[in-house]
Amino acid sequence: MCGIIGYIGKKDIAPILFQGLKRLEYRGYDSAGIATLASGFHIKKDVGKVDEIHQRLNFLDAPGTLGIAHTRWATHGGVTKENAHPHVDCEENIAVVHNGIIENYQELKRNLISLGHKFKSQTDTEVIPHLIEEMMKKGKNFTDATASALKSLEGSYAVLILNKNERKLFAARKGSPLVLGISDSGYFAASDIPAFLEYTKNVVYLHDYDLAVLTDNGIKVFNLMENREVERKVDTVNWDIRQAEKGEFDHFMLKEISEQVDTIQRASQQNKELINHVVEEMKNAHGIFLVGAGSSYHACVAASYIMSKVSKLHVNVVLASEFPYYEHYLTDKTLVIAVSQSGETADVLEAVKSAKAKKSKVISLVNVVGSSLTRTSDVFLNINAGPEICVLSTKTYTSQLALFILLSYALVNKYEEGKKKLTRLWNEIYHLTSATTRTKIKELAEKLRDKEHIFLIGRGLQYATAMEAALKIKEVSYIHAEAFAGGELKHGTIALIEDGTPCIVFVSEENEKEILSNAIEIKSRGGYIIGVSPKNNEIFDFWIKVPESNNENPIVQIIPIQILAYQLAVLRGLDPDHPRNLAKSVTVK
Ligand code: F6R
Repeated sequence: MCGIIGYIGKKDIAPILFQGLKRLEYRGYDSAGIATLASGFHIKKDVGKVDEIHQRLNFLDAPGTLGIAHTRWATHGGVTKENAHPHVDCEENIAVVHNGIIENYQELKRNLISLGHKFKSQTDTEVIPHLIEEMMKKGKNFTDATASALKSLEGSYAVLILNKNERKLFAARKGSPLVLGISDSGYFAASDIPAFLEYTKNVVYLHDYDLAVLTDNGIKVFNLMENREVERKVDTVNWDIRQAEKGEFDHFMLKEISEQVDTIQRASQQNKELINHVVEEMKNAHGIFLVGAGSSYHACVAASYIMSKVSKLHVNVVLASEFPYYEHYLTDKTLVIAVSQSGETADVLEAVKSAKAKKSKVISLVNVVGSSLTRTSDVFLNINAGPEICVLSTKTYTSQLALFILLSYALVNKYEEGKKKLTRLWNEIYHLTSATTRTKIKELAEKLRDKEHIFLIGRGLQYATAMEAALKIKEVSYIHAEAFAGGELKHGTIALIEDGTPCIVFVSEENEKEILSNAIEIKSRGGYIIGVSPKNNEIFDFWIKVPESNNENPIVQIIPIQILAYQLAVLRGLDPDHPRNLAKSVTVK
């Protein structure tokens, strides 16, 4: 949704906030703003990307060593300068940046207006500084006023709050991510770790209802539900700042696609005991649901085919947003496996909540340790792909697949065999992400760049790949792409095929004959056939060679299409890292 960062310490605030904003831009990029404190507030905010706003307002000349910043993905109120954060109270004593949604803001706003407060924006956020102002007017000190204001909010928030008259930074969360960073030269609070990773790897994950007070001398955390000071442990992350930088790549998307050569290996290095524990839970469960959204859902679809084949295990795959409608099936013997890169997707967290309400067990597959999902699950497995900055899931999708493959083999006591299969993919992925493959795929992108529609077909595991491939193409190139199970075409969709309609066909040894016969049906109606296949075939107008990898096909077959989606975006003059209307973690329902 949005990204927030704040700092208090010895260092100049301006470069910390400016860099932080750039690193958080993947979370929201329609407007941005900062507030620093040095003999009063210095506020700069506007619409546009961080660099564009910086050109106009120069974030780097903001004074002081204490401040907060925000990148916005608009929910309440249009994309305007007034709606950009930070927001302030009437007297401009309190400045707030916020990620999340205040569900009762209309009621709170009406009440504050009746008390004489003047609002400048259409946002839900603006009620927060006014609420604090109101409480302080009634005699509360800044801390108590903030605590009372936060207690009156319904919905979700991660907020950073400054008071013009006190050298303190408040950081509080409920339902939206917020992590603290501890360094020798100061303290950070941000939506995620890459925002301050160049300064420290020591982090504190805040819990819901935590209110942290950051001063020059340290951090104190209070829990608003427990009404007392609480201890939160300091963790050290193994992420490297280079993982959060583009390096020699033009875009994070291409960098992250290329990283898959390593991330698949990392995903397969799991704690065997933990895997065995998860396997036991799966074997003992009466009913298993795999739940996710977007690409994570597609990983679940692929997993259901692999588990059917390798482990002979029945699993139900459900979109996270649809999961509440299945709650009638849930019992204390049900196992829900929730899959989420960010661990913050609201639909997934909601699904977990309904599972927990029925006392079902929850195991999650996540990339962000310390996220809400890791904390609400009974057990979590870390896919360990490192920070994914591009809005699109690429390396995290294949790491989710790798973990599912490992689990499928472990279920039939073949953990080592599963691991070996993944290890062997190194060479294949190295080739698939090489400059040679990229050049070849660019040729195809040139042919497809002006098309309005692309269809994709596959059967079995390849159908899951077709779904994920269609999502990649449409979300980054804005070309309409749609996936079908090969056998479904003749039940209606084939009517859409015209002369030159591109169709990507995912072929595996297992169902080569059937899928090629579907491809012929398309070809004979004028379709342009792109084969993603181990072998060339006369019906292909364009051939993308991929190795036959059986159950690992979903990993190797998606990579060329991730590259195709990237090339299409670049050729169409689009920014692959920041597709329009999308946000990296979707923390609203
Ligand atoms: C697609 C994409 C989204 C996410 C979805 C779930 O490229 O990134 O479809 O997969 O929003 O996100 P997570 O996995 O964080 O729950």
